[in-house]
Amino acid sequence: MNSNLQFLRQGLKDIKTVGTFLRTAKNVSKSMVKHAAVSQCNTILELGAGDGAITKYILKDLKADAKLIIFEVNPIFCEKLSKIEDSRIILIQTSAEEMVTELETLGIKKVDAIISAIPFVNLPESLTLKIVSICKDLLNPNARFVQIHYSLILKKLYASIFENLEVDFIPWHIPPAFLFIGKK
Ligand SMILES: C[S@@+](CC[C@H](N)C(=O)[O-])C[C@H]1O[C@@H](n2cnc3c(N)ncnc32)[C@H](O)[C@@H]1O
Repeated sequence: MNSNLQFLRQGLKDIKTVGTFLRTAKNVSKSMVKHAAVSQCNTILELGAGDGAITKYILKDLKADAKLIIFEVNPIFCEKLSKIEDSRIILIQTSAEEMVTELETLGIKKVDAIISAIPFVNLPESLTLKIVSICKDLLNPNARFVQIHYSLILKKLYASIFENLEVDFIPWHIPPAFLFIGKK
């Protein structure tokens, strides 16, 4: 099935978890990769990878010996992600809430960047606070957390966690996108 159609279908099935009916487009994906300085990372997390719309641009910039650890809950998307033949990927079909335990199993304490498309606006605020705070704790000094949203609703929440927060607005996207960039 065509990727856009499959994504739409998953969105229609569970809009609360998937968050949108459209995959992130190339320009915004590339912008997220740039904000996260992926080319300089040794270990990077992607949260809510969907079927890999942003993942493929992360992989393009990622060093040959680096690791990309993906947390994704949707089994259909995980099946698609598992077909990407790239030994740098570690795919974990679990909620990002479980990151610390899962990373400990892998012997990972800190990461060099986190790229997330989890639709936090649909999650209880307490859970969003928990996951985003874990993200901040996991970052190495100067590392970045890059999150896509389609509104500024959660700006205060991100600002309460990241003292150093930037917002990048990308109008040339359907829907227009806001990138929240939190620096440790
Ligand atoms: C808006 S889609 C983004 C998909 C893709 N990254 C893109 O940008 O096109 C959000 C994704 O987050 C996943 N997701 C939602 N809650 C999650 C959670 N707690 N942990 C990990 N993934 C989650 C959904 O299954 C969905 O694939």
